[in-house]
Amino acid sequence: MSRIPVIAIDGPSASGKGTVAALVAQALGYHYLDSGALYRLTALDAQQQGVALDDAPELAQLALNLEVRFEAQQIYLRGQDVGDLLRSETCGVSASKIAAIPAVRTALLARQHAFRQPPGLVADGRDMGSVVFPDAQLKVFLTASAEERAQRRYKQLMEKEISANLADLLNDLRDRDARDSARAVAPLRQEDDAILLDTSQIGIADAVDFVLKNYELATGIQVNC
Ligand code: C5P
Repeated sequence: MSRIPVIAIDGPSASGKGTVAALVAQALGYHYLDSGALYRLTALDAQQQGVALDDAPELAQLALNLEVRFEAQQIYLRGQDVGDLLRSETCGVSASKIAAIPAVRTALLARQHAFRQPPGLVADGRDMGSVVFPDAQLKVFLTASAEERAQRRYKQLMEKEISANLADLLNDLRDRDARDSARAVAPLRQEDDAILLDTSQIGIADAVDFVLKNYELATGIQVNC
């Protein structure tokens, strides 16, 4: 057990957990782990190296040996800036397929643990509180209705001038939720010791405030927010 504090924020796709987690990390001066990026990187690496998405042993090798560099807002895979490629819907869908493979999850564990550095870590994903950091000081399950999440994703894509169809986005999100929740290993679900935060009706600032207040309550660490 590490004494370095962790806040685990889990939840479904497009729930806003990444934005909230990054802002909480910034407020506390903690490190930030976007664990979904590791699954997306493995999926992208597989695509670039011609590895099939059902080739478990090869995918696990790729996950183990990912040549990745995180630098401020940029992510480099084998020296290539892959930020935009990682955020594509195709990459998200492939990531969710390979994330159901136990050997891939195991291969990414040590890499995730390595983000636990002083003075603390805020980690977001699906299994941060249940599997990767079960001793986290605070566990939050951050969600929003599928309709609200599809609307947010639609707005994001429109802002980037990427064409999208709201009904298709809603279907894709529901498929991804179903796949992430039904898998045998580390399924997406609210654990008993996680606090529920539904952001369907509240904004980012209130969600960040909620996490910080609960962290203060759980640890006694004074947070200026
Ligand atoms: O969070 P994000 O949408 O980037 O994650 C992409 C996919 O990676 C998810 O749909 C999920 O299947 C998988 N994932 C996971 N466990 C995590 C983070 C992401 O299975 N901790």
